Amino acid sequence: MITIAHDRRRVLITAGAGGIGRAIATAFAATGARVHVCDIDAGALDALRADVPGITGSVCDVADRTAVQRMVDEAIGALGGLDVLVNNAGISGPTAAVADLDPDAWEAVLRINLTGTFTVTQAAIPHLKRSPAATIVVMSSLAGRFGYPNRSPYATTKWGLIGFTKTLSRELGEFGIRVNAILPGAVDGPRLQRVFEGRAAATGRSLEEEQAAALDNQSIKRFVDPADIAALAVFLASDAGRSISGQMFPIDGDSQSAS
Ligand SMILES: NC(=O)c1ccc[n+]([C@@H]2O[C@H](COP(=O)([O-])OP(=O)(O)OC[C@H]3O[C@@H](n4cnc5c(N)ncnc54)[C@H](O)[C@@H]3O)[C@@H](O)[C@H]2O)c1
Repeated sequence: MITIAHDRRRVLITAGAGGIGRAIATAFAATGARVHVCDIDAGALDALRADVPGITGSVCDVADRTAVQRMVDEAIGALGGLDVLVNNAGISGPTAAVADLDPDAWEAVLRINLTGTFTVTQAAIPHLKRSPAATIVVMSSLAGRFGYPNRSPYATTKWGLIGFTKTLSRELGEFGIRVNAILPGAVDGPRLQRVFEGRAAATGRSLEEEQAAALDNQSIKRFVDPADIAALAVFLASDAGRSISGQMFPIDGDSQSAS
């Protein structure tokens, strides 16, 4: 099997200027890889480029098909090809029971989490096929393993991404492209706080009660560090992962449910 040294990998990360994506971008850059990130937030992208010299970026909403094609063209221009695609972009969506859900809010989550991932992947495939050892990493979630009351659009998209990962792995294996999904649990950071706020508003419990309930649900009593997810993504893209494809990797402190 043909391999690529870490420091020669060309990596594209969606939603890479904040949160988990930023940790992944920084971790790949630390290996010496060439990294291009896309993000909807131009200010966050500027801040990342200032903090991590050498990273290039494009402002892009993954739900906008025209913008995605332009972004992938820019990435290929900046990187000179593509070996690793990290489909990280995804929004939390509304907190409401299916019976009460705003249909437009449902569609907005599907547009970004599912269709956005499809659009970026489809545009990247021709370039990945030219790589001697390409990898796609898809960001699913704990919500892609369990039912998740009051978060149906999010759970539906994260389960859908598992089907997408397993299907892509079978379609692309013959081209030497591996495809795997990472399923983070509760990750430390501002987004988790927003999730707890949403749950507290829905259940009437306090923020502290929601945090304690989330930890009760895990064997390992701490929330996940984004750096640990980044390390898993780097491993999956490395030669050490060369026999791994079509798999799901929970990283969630052994969580027993999604809420
Ligand atoms: N944080 C968690 O607890 C957690 C748990 C499981 C899975 N995940 C998944 O991990 C991924 C990243 O989550 P996060 O918590 O780092 O997210 P986040 O909310 O912190 O956002 C990360 C980045 O996404 C960008 N972004 C948002 N919408 C975008 C769009 N339409 N196009 C391009 N960029 C966009 C934002 O500008 C931001 O810089 C998501 O797919 C999420 O579902 C997160």
